[in-house]
Amino acid sequence: MRLDRRIDGAPLPVHSDGQTKSDPLGKPQFHDDVGDGGARSDGFVMASTSKSFGQRAEGNDDDFEFIGSFGHVVPSGQGFMNTIPFGSYMTPALEAHSLWKLYEAGESLVEAVRDVNIKIDSGEMVAVMGPSGCGKTTLLNILSGIDEPSSGMVSVNGEKLYGISDDARTDLRGASFGFIFQDFNLLPVLSAAENVELPLLLKGEAPHEARKKALEALEMVGLEDRGEHRPAELSGGQQQRVAVARAIVHQPSIILCDEPTGNLDNNTSKEVMSLLSEMNRNQRTTFLIVTHDANIAAKCQRTITMSDGMVLTDSITTPPEEE
Ligand SMILES: Nc1ncnc2c1ncn2[C@@H]1O[C@H](COP(=O)(O)OP(=O)(O)OP(=O)(O)O)[C@@H](O)[C@H]1O
Ligand SMILES: [Mg+2]
Repeated sequence: MRLDRRIDGAPLPVHSDGQTKSDPLGKPQFHDDVGDGGARSDGFVMASTSKSFGQRAEGNDDDFEFIGSFGHVVPSGQGFMNTIPFGSYMTPALEAHSLWKLYEAGESLVEAVRDVNIKIDSGEMVAVMGPSGCGKTTLLNILSGIDEPSSGMVSVNGEKLYGISDDARTDLRGASFGFIFQDFNLLPVLSAAENVELPLLLKGEAPHEARKKALEALEMVGLEDRGEHRPAELSGGQQQRVAVARAIVHQPSIILCDEPTGNLDNNTSKEVMSLLSEMNRNQRTTFLIVTHDANIAAKCQRTITMSDGMVLTDSITTPPEEE
């Protein structure tokens, strides 16, 4: 893999390509040589190339090059290079190396995610933007264990998400992630409190404990007086607040959001985003938020943009003034 230049513009050493993949739609291949977050979190650069899946180099240590302590986006000659902000020595909340997702659709092959490398530190709030169809939801689904990658590696708080048993993955997902979707995904026949407590009951928590935690979570999102309401008896913003309560009720360390404000008007969207920012600030919950809304991205500390399945830029956002 070739890195074209350093943060300071100086040329980087050129690395020779490794072994190439011969069976892109075969069994998913997961790298065992990463996931050691702490060992690598002292700052490094990862490069995405514009190669197709069959041409790409096998992910290995040679694919990553330490280049400095801090950086924004550095465009490279033939492809794109994105730098990851200098992290602490903590294990990253989410880390992905050399992720690919290929879909076979009839005769054609869709490369929905192409050689994506990402590192999200614990407590970061990161936006993912890009045009429709560029692979944002596919990437989010892979990072959360909903959808298996064709190849590559994902680690969650230092633990591998793939290449482990389905049960182990379900446990890791359940313990680590909360999800917020554009269309709220609430069950219409259940009350707000029942929707929020459901994930706890499914995990085997005692009903009275689950209800207590659900009511606490509803209180956190300002809906303590709406516990008995069904979704149809709530406004869109209130429904999304219930979804936020459901996402946080088991105190996950990472919340993944796919267009969380996509169905809300401007004001309601601001309110929901303020709620998420508050959680990020006060509880250090890590957020990865797919959004088309530049105002939402402006509230995040970092914005990753995608294009055609690849990470195009990865840049730190200047925090907006508090209103
Ligand atoms: N199950 C599937 N089978 C085949 N192709 C798929 C499948 N899911 C997604 N794709 C394709 O993968 C690409 C990325 O889709 P994805 O849903 O990730 O885009 P997106 O960036 O989330 O778009 P949007 O902003 O519209 O939600 C698209 O070209 C899409 O058609
Ligand atoms: Mg999408």
